[in-house]
Amino acid sequence: MSLKNLSSLSVLVLHGPNLNLLGLREPQVYGNLTLDDINRLLEAEAKALEVKVSCFQSNHEGVLVDAIQAALGQHDGILINAGAYTHTSVAIRDALSGVKIPTVEVHLSNIYQREVFRHHSYIAPIAIGQISGFGPDSYRLGLQALVSQVKNKEIIKP
Ligand code: DQA
Repeated sequence: MSLKNLSSLSVLVLHGPNLNLLGLREPQVYGNLTLDDINRLLEAEAKALEVKVSCFQSNHEGVLVDAIQAALGQHDGILINAGAYTHTSVAIRDALSGVKIPTVEVHLSNIYQREVFRHHSYIAPIAIGQISGFGPDSYRLGLQALVSQVKNKEIIKP
């Protein structure tokens, strides 16, 4: 494991449906920051962690599946807020487990304090872990956790 590999770690950040409406959408649940604000926050955190982030949002399940497949060989980790697809999408879960890229799931709101249909995540069982309920900090903490996990794995790799 060379130092070059550690410093060039690349994380794909995926935002699912309706997250493009942040700032406007149910601010009492999701806060006032826009998606651009969250992406800027992630870029600042990535700089501090000395990794690269690429942020992408789509309202379409198949487009998110394509983005996950295209991440193979390009990114070392995936940070995902799949929005409502968290609770419905076997396709996104299968894509993530198919590419085997270490994944951390994040949510702005605490999905366990909300409607029962939000309590189940198809992604959680195949993710390293899930961070839910810290607003924009969920993304920042998720990125820290993902990078720490990927770096540790790289270090112990023979
Ligand atoms: C969300 C929670 C989901 O239940 C919801 O459908 C979203 C946003 C969150 O970040 O809190 O779109 O993923």
